[in-house]
Amino acid sequence: MKLAQWISSLAIFASLTSACSSSDDVGQPKSGNSAPDGGNTAHLSGAFTNLCATCHGDEGRGKDKNPAIPGTRDEQGYIARVRSGGGPMPAFDSSLISDAELEADYAWLTTKRQ
Ligand code: HEC
Repeated sequence: MKLAQWISSLAIFASLTSACSSSDDVGQPKSGNSAPDGGNTAHLSGAFTNLCATCHGDEGRGKDKNPAIPGTRDEQGYIARVRSGGGPMPAFDSSLISDAELEADYAWLTTKRQ
């Protein structure tokens, strides 16, 4: 009985330490869903980061005179605004940022950004 307890606590210890030290280890015994959900970077497309973040901020919250996006626009309005540009904002065609990237960014901005 004692030995069994010792073995099981050793197993728990081993699974805890390995869960902490490796993030890409598959086949881990489940250790609860403790993935940190803070830090909302890297959820927007690379094109957004390269083309838009300098003006609108890393998460599109707006910066200086540049408004927060998407503002009140729907998805099509958002895409149309990017394609047409306007004011100090240049137009961006689909070779620079695709519709799919804009749609994914829009979805994140409207549903996931906190
Ligand atoms: C040079 C700075 C600059 C860059 C780069 C830029 N924008 Fe803008 N954007 C602006 C400004 C300034 C406005 C507001 C213009 C106005 O009031 O007419 C604006 C407006 C918008 C709007 C309309 C917001 C509303 O409330 O109607 C959207 C959507 C938008 N930008 C998305 C983007 C996206 C997506 C990118 C990257 C592909 C981008 N912008 C890149 C400066 C920029």
